[in-house]
Amino acid sequence: MNSPMVVLPQLFNHISTVSTAGTASTLSREEHIMARCIAEAYKYRGTVSPNPCVGAAVVVDGKVIALEAHQRCGGLHAERLAIGSALNRLAETTDATNTTDATNTTDATNITDATNTTLPAGGELFITLEPCSTHGRTPPCTHIILSSGIKRVYVAILDPNPLHSGRGIELLRNHGIHVTVGVMAESATTLLAPFAKGIATQTPYIFAKIAQTLDGYTADSFGTSKWITGLPAREHVHALRHGADAILTGIGSILADDSILDTRLHTTTTPNQHRNPSVIIADTHCRTPLSSRVVQRYASQRDGSGNGDGTDMLYILTGEPQNAPQVQKLNNLSSRIAVITVDTKADTHTPRLNLLHMLQTIHKLGFNNVMLEAGATLTSAMLHENHIDAIHMFIAPKLIFGGTNALQIPQPPQSPQSPQSPQPPQGITLGNATTLQLKHSRQIGDDTLLEFNVFRT
Ligand SMILES: NC(=O)c1ccc[n+]([C@@H]2O[C@H](COP(=O)([O-])OP(=O)(O)OC[C@H]3O[C@@H](n4cnc5c(N)ncnc54)[C@H](OP(=O)(O)O)[C@@H]3O)[C@@H](O)[C@H]2O)c1
Repeated sequence: MNSPMVVLPQLFNHISTVSTAGTASTLSREEHIMARCIAEAYKYRGTVSPNPCVGAAVVVDGKVIALEAHQRCGGLHAERLAIGSALNRLAETTDATNTTDATNTTDATNITDATNTTLPAGGELFITLEPCSTHGRTPPCTHIILSSGIKRVYVAILDPNPLHSGRGIELLRNHGIHVTVGVMAESATTLLAPFAKGIATQTPYIFAKIAQTLDGYTADSFGTSKWITGLPAREHVHALRHGADAILTGIGSILADDSILDTRLHTTTTPNQHRNPSVIIADTHCRTPLSSRVVQRYASQRDGSGNGDGTDMLYILTGEPQNAPQVQKLNNLSSRIAVITVDTKADTHTPRLNLLHMLQTIHKLGFNNVMLEAGATLTSAMLHENHIDAIHMFIAPKLIFGGTNALQIPQPPQSPQSPQSPQPPQGITLGNATTLQLKHSRQIGDDTLLEFNVFRT
């Protein structure tokens, strides 16, 4: 089935498009409902990992009577919530006309497999991801679908986990349910890309934010990068942070900018608006200052305190810390600060973090969708080693004729024994360039945002 583009006003302002061809007016009924499920799922990015973002709707008599999404890891799955809320809605309608019959009332957050309440014949279920058919943190969703009386199910995409893929669909079909797979598949694939990458590689999906001048600099010749872009673009960056599980930065940026790396959304109303993603600093020698604003932010918070749900953490990933007391001091500051050791690269005089092991460590911490907000050194190294999946490039209409290049060929760190002069790029030609696919472009205030997918080479 083709997967047309839809521009949805109910999506966050930073997710303007759901797919890549066509317009909202060309959507079929099924596509339109699935697009709403996808938009609902996007609202909970950042709170469901390591689970996938999933949305679901129940349709009765042609009307969407329930639209729900999986909201947090360990919480109920989207289809279970949607069926529960649809039953509630129907019970309320019944109550309004027959006040003596309250037996149909089912709490959407407390629906159990023992319920004998069913949806009317003709009820339909839309889900962005194949329902699970095995016991995980919650019982299988296929079970609740079968007991709900639903006979028609629309699924956007199959479970990317090869252990489960297709099993839920097969089980439903074996029980006489008519299942259509592939409605808005392209948009759902984009929604699910972080989860799918985690399953396939045990590393998180990485999207990099780069703000640069028109002539390609991310900081001026004094090292100042505040501010390259205007206020609307910076507000957009906060929306990007809000949707990430974690922000990954380099020690260079912490030392240069002393950024607090929290989320300040002023214009968007979303569930859990004040939630902050966790912060991860790539810091080979554990030089992160105790007095830095990001450390102080977490030092002043205990579990459950702070803005949002208070579950975010500060992780400092070190390789060979030269300053053991510093590691201890940081670890002792708060239960929400943790210093973790990862492997270093063996091929340089002065060690730097092994990026693959760093990313595997980040994935093990439960993060699927990570925003890279670092300077040219870490961003270029990540790109060079093919770890970046998407780039959000903000281009400011400014020329500064010098400064820090947005991207540069990664140089090994200098050791005092063998100082090196910068080497010209070796072996990179137009023929073997990293190629990007432009997904969207738009104006945000005076700045231009280009969103690219990065192809694996
Ligand atoms: N315009 C923008 O979008 C933007 C965004 C962020 C920052 N900035 C600017 O960027 C500048 C800082 O950039 P930066 O390049 O110095 O710092 P950076 O990229 O943020 O951090 C680089 C540091 O990460 C650490 N690192 C650990 N393992 C690494 C690896 N395998 N490869 C590469 N780095 C690794 C290294 O420090 P150790 O080895 O010592 O641990 C390295 O020096 C500031 O001026 C800041 O304002 C601009």
